[in-house]
Amino acid sequence: MKTALIVVAAGCVALAQAPATNYDEAKVPAYTLPPLRVLNDGAPVRTAEDWTKRRAEIFALLETQMFGRAPARPADLAFAVDSIDKAALGGKAICKQVSIKARGLAFHLLLCLPANATGPVPVVVGLGFSPNQSVSADPGITLAGTWAQNKDTKEIERQPVQESSRGSSASRWQLDMVLSRGFGLATMYYGDIEPDIAGAVKRGIRGTYLKPGQEAPDASDWGAIAAWAWGLSRVADYLETDKDVDAGRMALVGHSRLGKTALWAGAMDTRFGIVISNDSGEGGAAISRRVFGETVADLNNRFPHWFCGNYRQYSGHEGEMPFDSHILLALIAPRPLYVASAEEDQWADPKGEFLAAVAASEVYELLGKQGVGTATMPPVNEPVGDAVRYHVRTGKHDITAYDWQQYLDFAERQFRLTSPATLRPQLTRVESRLEILTIATGEREVVWSAPAHLEAPNWSRDGKALLFNQGGRIYELPLGNRTPRLIDTGTATRCNNDHGLSPDGAWLAISHAPERDSLIYVVAAAGGQPRLVTQNGPSYWHGWSPDGRTLAYCARREGEYDIYTIPVEGGDERRLTTAPGLDDGPDYAPDGRIWFNSVRTGVMKIWRMDPDGANQTQMTRNEEYADWFPHPSPDGTQVVFLSYDRSVEGHPANKDVVLRMMPAGGGEPRVVARLFGGQGTINVPSWSPDGRRFAFVSYRLLSE
Ligand code: GCU
Repeated sequence: MKTALIVVAAGCVALAQAPATNYDEAKVPAYTLPPLRVLNDGAPVRTAEDWTKRRAEIFALLETQMFGRAPARPADLAFAVDSIDKAALGGKAICKQVSIKARGLAFHLLLCLPANATGPVPVVVGLGFSPNQSVSADPGITLAGTWAQNKDTKEIERQPVQESSRGSSASRWQLDMVLSRGFGLATMYYGDIEPDIAGAVKRGIRGTYLKPGQEAPDASDWGAIAAWAWGLSRVADYLETDKDVDAGRMALVGHSRLGKTALWAGAMDTRFGIVISNDSGEGGAAISRRVFGETVADLNNRFPHWFCGNYRQYSGHEGEMPFDSHILLALIAPRPLYVASAEEDQWADPKGEFLAAVAASEVYELLGKQGVGTATMPPVNEPVGDAVRYHVRTGKHDITAYDWQQYLDFAERQFRLTSPATLRPQLTRVESRLEILTIATGEREVVWSAPAHLEAPNWSRDGKALLFNQGGRIYELPLGNRTPRLIDTGTATRCNNDHGLSPDGAWLAISHAPERDSLIYVVAAAGGQPRLVTQNGPSYWHGWSPDGRTLAYCARREGEYDIYTIPVEGGDERRLTTAPGLDDGPDYAPDGRIWFNSVRTGVMKIWRMDPDGANQTQMTRNEEYADWFPHPSPDGTQVVFLSYDRSVEGHPANKDVVLRMMPAGGGEPRVVARLFGGQGTINVPSWSPDGRRFAFVSYRLLSE
């Protein structure tokens, strides 16, 4: 009874001080957002370089005025894999439990990966409101207790573990959906980093950085949100060491206060390639100046530990803030950003979240991306936008299956678009079939198939295996046991479909994009660290000269795609074609001449030239077809290539195509195979060393 009275009394005091929450659009004050594209000295931001400067300015602003400065990766950071369950979730997943240890604390990471993955997978990374067992009812997940403050003693204590908490947040994680879409999930309890309780600073990571005698961090030092965000970076540190994870494709997601956390983590740490804010609201995506729903004062009063001390001065002074949420969102650019709201979650101000995404879009557009694309709030359940995407879902403050569906679609699309692993969008889910065609009989054999997107086989020089790329990595499929094996390409984990072996089989040329542009590297065929060959990008490997000394490739220089060669050890590149339009797909014949495809006549046709680019000769003429990627046979008598219907532009995936073969001396090509595919089918040399067969990939669309 006594406690109840105190609560009521405290509630009255709070109500008396704080103005009533505004939910009336008519009462939103007129406001002007601080400019994104003007430097502090007043100079306009016109280029990507200008933006780099502006970004540093606004980052410093939010770091010192809102979230507070966080320390760097601690020197003693260590990882311990505590368990690996290879048959988790009834066989659907491989779940690892990892302790991330730093400064005397341990954070407990749960990493679940699809059991059927044949290589490193992209992961969704996010903190949870409760310990890991709440994610799934799987009994193999270690139970942990939450934090709570003892009402009487005020002590902050771990609660007893509850068997009943298994799977209690399952709907918020949608683990089955995540895994079945080919993603992994990396999550941990945010309370491991610091309990979400005012006054708990000494019970978490921030406490370990306090100086002797210091009770709380300085006014511009980290609040709890920055500490949780810092913990996410430690998760990324671990994921980078895990060979089963494609650390080039980490998507950050967070709901509500953990959505605010995801945004700041994404701002601090650009290793997160996608950032998703679910109902993050005030202090997250919502524009504070609208003073709609929750306000800065509400945050500072109710959660004084979340933001840094300096943030308190903005309580009730939103209009004077030198920043607003559009600035936080713009810090993610040009990485894909998803902002989502829920219709009934007016406390988080859906419209304010939308308007911030719209305002941040101008930075995406400056950096060559498409933003939200409209200033009109979309109807419920109708996502809008491209690299900045937004939806408002029906229902309450929560993260639901609907939200996850949108995020996984987005991650699938954006990772493929912006990621050099495939360069072209692959929106549809496919089954890939690695096939071998025997020339003499026309017989086709499927030697490997998987519900995944794999591409571009090469045949090993001993005839015993096929190499292909999938998810940015290169695999070898032994034709004996037919179990794919990852080839270690070291730091090159964003390889596209332009790869192939040297004539002696000792080396593998790969096209890997360390950042945006693909570059050519050479790595030992047995695996190892890659060595860079081309200084300039983008460059896409296609052929290896018969003497093993020169690489031929397609490259874009000053906007024009042409064929170039370069010594394997590196050095100056040599441009062989200058005709306007695309020249692509150079492969060597045993006589040293280079076969390629060129659109210079208006239709993509097969051409041939001398090793130095002299005598460029058109080899196919039938204008019913657009011809791509010619591959001369090992004895030099035949050439196989891919033909699209002539109306097809470029070399897209998922088309009805044919493989055709022609005598190398010239003459009428004949169709040797019909298939569904195109991109990925035969981008690089795929003849068997004895010249009797060649490999290719065909595809089948999978319905969801
Ligand atoms: C409260 C708080 C919000 C926060 C939310 C949550 O509602 O006011 O700012 O986003 O909790 O984390 O669920």
